[in-house]
Amino acid sequence: MPARKRVRGTRPKMYESFFALREPAFSLAPDPRFLLPSDTHDEGLAALIYGITRRKGFILLTGEVGTGKTTLLRAALDRIPEDTEVALVLNTAGLRPVDLLKLIATEFRLPGPFDGKVDYVIALNRFLMQQLEDGMNTVLIIDEAQNLDVELLEEVRLLSNLETDTEKLLQIVLTGQPELRQMLAAPSLRQLRQRVAVEHHIQPLDCDEVRRYLAHRIEVAGGNYDEVFSPGAEAAFFAFSGGCPRLISLLADRVLIAAFSKQMKPVDQAMIEKKAKEMAESRLDTGIAKLGGENG
Ligand SMILES: Nc1ncnc2c1ncn2[C@@H]1O[C@H](COP(=O)(O)OP(=O)(O)OP(=O)(O)O)[C@@H](O)[C@H]1O
Ligand SMILES: [Mg+2]
Repeated sequence: MPARKRVRGTRPKMYESFFALREPAFSLAPDPRFLLPSDTHDEGLAALIYGITRRKGFILLTGEVGTGKTTLLRAALDRIPEDTEVALVLNTAGLRPVDLLKLIATEFRLPGPFDGKVDYVIALNRFLMQQLEDGMNTVLIIDEAQNLDVELLEEVRLLSNLETDTEKLLQIVLTGQPELRQMLAAPSLRQLRQRVAVEHHIQPLDCDEVRRYLAHRIEVAGGNYDEVFSPGAEAAFFAFSGGCPRLISLLADRVLIAAFSKQMKPVDQAMIEKKAKEMAESRLDTGIAKLGGENG
């Protein structure tokens, strides 16, 4: 019988037990359990929760690629009260206006079928009025909103018009990369821009926060920072990542694999610098150019 081929993408051997971790500390998933409440992430989370629970209408959260927008959204969803019903639109690439309405209708389980845009909006309005009567808060979250075009953003603005004399019927959270801010600055969208009641832009982490980031993720994974990295390690992570969380995690994962193969513990700075250099040299290979935006 032929030998079984190793499936690409599976990691041949895990480093977790070597570093006394219960689970991988640097997975790239937007898992809010790992969230370090750095100043900027704390402010962003507070803005989301405040805007949603106080029914502020429009909420805008932006940040460079990989800075934690989706993670913050998930953390906010874990923390908002139960009287809140949320439609979460995560995938916006190539969406047309009617698709957006379809997605929203599906998320809110509106009974269709609907013939066209007007029908959707009527049904949505009816639903939102009922929610208000039932004491429910209704939220539409659009992640990766930088992919929406002007026509779609205009549609979103129309949805934000659904209100009574005193109350916003729908809270709308837009999150996306910095281009989203540029889009909203266009004259045709100034009406929407003016409606943004709460906003936050996620900043890169500073060098000290990079150390806290590494330590926090290692601790959540059940490990001890001092046993994993030697003192001063954060400087090399900061230099490589510019404080972008995803890039820090990407490098940390590579570094831990390499250190494991050499049975090195704690990991010294030279090893981190070596891996950082390799990754910087093979940007295309790792997709860092895309993953890190201007920070990369
Ligand atoms: N404050 C933080 N604490 C812990 N981990 C974080 C923090 N911020 C970001 N991360 C981690 O960084 C990675 C990237 O985060 P996320 O996917 O949320 O970024 P994003 O801004 O949504 O990126 P994109 O622009 O590609 O959509 C995730 O693994 C996430 O858990
Ligand atoms: Mg995201």
